[in-house]
Amino acid sequence: MASFAPSPADVADIGVTGMAVMGSNLARNLARHGYKVAIHNRSVGKTEKVIDSYGDEGQFFPSETMEDFVASLQKPRVAIIMVKAGGPTDAVIDELADLMDEGDIIVDAGNALFTDTRRREAALRERGLHFVGTGVSGGEEGALNGPSIMPGGTPESYKRLGPMLEDISAHVDGEPCCTHVGEDGAGHFVKMVHNGIEYADMQVISEAYDMMSKALGMDAAAIGDVFDQWNKGDLESFLIEITAGVLHHVDDRTGKPFVDIILDQAAQKGTGAWTVQTALDLGVPVTGIAEATFARSVSGGVAQREAARGVLPAEAETQAIDDPERFIDDLQKALYAAKLVSYSQGFDEIAKGAEEYGWNINLGDMAKIWRDGCIIRAKFLNRITEAYDRNPELPLLLADEYFTTEIAKCIPAWRRVVAYAAENGYPVPVFASTLSYYDAVRSERLPAALVQAQRDFFGAHTYQRVDGEGTFHVEWSEDRRESRQD
Ligand code: 6PG
Repeated sequence: MASFAPSPADVADIGVTGMAVMGSNLARNLARHGYKVAIHNRSVGKTEKVIDSYGDEGQFFPSETMEDFVASLQKPRVAIIMVKAGGPTDAVIDELADLMDEGDIIVDAGNALFTDTRRREAALRERGLHFVGTGVSGGEEGALNGPSIMPGGTPESYKRLGPMLEDISAHVDGEPCCTHVGEDGAGHFVKMVHNGIEYADMQVISEAYDMMSKALGMDAAAIGDVFDQWNKGDLESFLIEITAGVLHHVDDRTGKPFVDIILDQAAQKGTGAWTVQTALDLGVPVTGIAEATFARSVSGGVAQREAARGVLPAEAETQAIDDPERFIDDLQKALYAAKLVSYSQGFDEIAKGAEEYGWNINLGDMAKIWRDGCIIRAKFLNRITEAYDRNPELPLLLADEYFTTEIAKCIPAWRRVVAYAAENGYPVPVFASTLSYYDAVRSERLPAALVQAQRDFFGAHTYQRVDGEGTFHVEWSEDRRESRQD
């Protein structure tokens, strides 16, 4: 607890309102690190439960009312809100703001949409209050034992808040998985993209599982063994580890592999969709994330799937695989390559967001604070930090020398996987879309030239030439003469 100066005995260092699991775990994490933590919940029962069950873990200051909660905080006050995104968050902010004084800090640690955070920050700034939207990743376990934390807001607020958050975050080689991301909504923006990458990671892992299951006929436990193996190499990560754990789990009731008894309709709370919507607004191709998000929608499209099942012909015969070991090795390489593309695209979105909203985000630091605590924690994130250390202005992560070398080793396998899936009728939206992006971004020339010509044909939308400056239009319906437009 490097820079922690304890507050007087009768006031808390920090407060948390919202005592559902994430909020209470954050409060417990703070208390376990020696902070005096004020806690509050709309219904007092939850607060009492925290005290009853975990009161001996540290110093808690429970309050029944928001007034008492605010009064129990040392000035400048820091109050973390951990309630449902949207309306409930706005309601608690309003309540808190009315009770707070200039210089106090309100922290929203939920998954808020960054534009909401920007709006709230601006409104509270007018009132002399700091509003910090912060991403917190790692689920319930992380909140308790060390999450990855992505705070936005003013540098001034970070001075008061940052040391506490750094303290309770996960650590790698003594470094906290928490840093000041940037002003106003930057923290929630980065958390949003983190979740988008999480969607892509989860989907592409599931595609690899699906191929092993369908093409090789492997059972869940055998596929789990493969994931355990993969977790010892470049793919080492939390999501690969839990995938192996899930695949080895057996359903108590039926004795069947657990994964086989789960309905195949993936839900979503919206952060993946936000990442894609924002990317569309910014004009950043996040194809891996988008396909992963759509894949969840396809799975949940019950009526469409019902209408298609057994009706849409596959016209595909499953080709036997002569060398299952090589096929599995191909999948591993394809997974690594697809993952690299998804991350590269995610970092593009962060870079573009930073440019658009005037945030000074250090991309290498983002990879650093994702190395532990969060859902996408992975060994290879070190490589991303190194790439941005080599060149902080790197325009494309994939173009870093480490990644070009790594991806080169994967390309033939990646192509074989996508081709096999297409020929045999297996859906691999992330494997395929990331490969397509890879081939597009490295292309000498794209068919976009033809699209421009078509646009000019039907809408006089103009085009530029490869052989000089200027904007041009052809009189398509008349003499087809070209004229300069600028
Ligand atoms: C995290 C997770 C967390 C949550 C997601 C799940 O970083 O700890 O991303 O934020 O589990 O919101 O999102 P979906 O319900 O949309 O899959």
